[in-house]
Amino acid sequence: MQKYIKSCLIEQFYVTFAKKNSMAKKVLVVTGGGDCPGLNAVIRGIVKSAEYEGDWEVIGCIESYNGLLKDDVEIVDLKDKDVAGIHVNGGTIIKTTNKGGPFHFPVQQPDGSWKEEDRSELFKKRIDNLGIDVIISIGGDGSQRISIQLADMGINIVGVPKTIDNDLSSTDFTFGFQTAVQIATEAVDKLVTTASSHSRVFILEVMGRDAGWIALHSAIAGGAEVCIIPEIEYDPKKIVEKIESRYKSGRGFCNIVIAEGAKGLDGKITGVKPTALGDPNIKLGGVGDKLKLELEQLGVKHDIRVMVLGHLQRGGTPVAYDRILATAFGVKAFELVKDQKYRTMVSYRHPEITYVSLDEAVKRPNNVDPETSSLVNTAKKIGISFGD
Ligand code: F6P
Repeated sequence: MQKYIKSCLIEQFYVTFAKKNSMAKKVLVVTGGGDCPGLNAVIRGIVKSAEYEGDWEVIGCIESYNGLLKDDVEIVDLKDKDVAGIHVNGGTIIKTTNKGGPFHFPVQQPDGSWKEEDRSELFKKRIDNLGIDVIISIGGDGSQRISIQLADMGINIVGVPKTIDNDLSSTDFTFGFQTAVQIATEAVDKLVTTASSHSRVFILEVMGRDAGWIALHSAIAGGAEVCIIPEIEYDPKKIVEKIESRYKSGRGFCNIVIAEGAKGLDGKITGVKPTALGDPNIKLGGVGDKLKLELEQLGVKHDIRVMVLGHLQRGGTPVAYDRILATAFGVKAFELVKDQKYRTMVSYRHPEITYVSLDEAVKRPNNVDPETSSLVNTAKKIGISFGD
């Protein structure tokens, strides 16, 4: 992987670079937002299909768009040899961030403080100078909103939906979700044995932001007794009833899976404001501890332990399903580029890998619908309580 880092003469460098390869078309690949198992498989799918097509160059922008926004530009040439076997690996070879970006780039001021700067015009100038024809942006809803802003500036862009949360409504699944579910399920499996041995109540807090998909899937797969999701406000008294029924029936332990975005009857989420400049997202976390306290205040005397699974859900190798979906997404993204279908996002609508407009893609989130979800029904029918 050949890395280009230039400081002073970057504009000059771009012209030289662009001229040297003036015949080939160029696609810039960006991974944005939180990392997600399968990102490398998408990159590999893009690079391999570009080489299959011929006459295309793939350039990776390091650390999302920031690689082209920094004074010391960081981009890499991506060839077949650079992506060999990377579909097996977690993370992203071109790095990512959920801070900064073309419209909110953090810049240190002479007095040492930091201020966000709109560097979108500089970004456009640089991609023009580089001779970039199209950008493929692999990211979640936040990243695809940036894609729309760039498309509004006349930049050709194709999105690929990424998130472990599965909270994008215009695709059946995002890659990374099944891996997160597998990791969360393995955690439930392990907690069942320790909860049972110690006759304890275990609360497992899982990710998902405002969507309960990871919690719902892993609670069913792991056989938890209680599943708390953001879409159903929980009443701690109902959870106490479920816990006590488990002990009365002789089972003597109870496993609760709670989504980080869960809300009690007050409708409030648990988290803290982001401290880093350019990061727009509330840092969710702590609802498991909050629930423990509520249960104790309601008189639960059994030992309660809380486990926050955290970023383990995003790390490591993707499961086979995600490798396949991510590879198919990469190949489809390059097809859209080739067919000049810009301002679009790849989408999976079983059994097709298809696409939607970017505007449609971010219109509404994908949440669990407690009324119509067949999985909520499945869970209820096997005795899982949602605390409602
Ligand atoms: O959106 C993916 C996700 O992992 C969420 O499930 C979680 O709330 C968030 O990202 C954590 O992000 P950060 O990288 O800021 O810790």
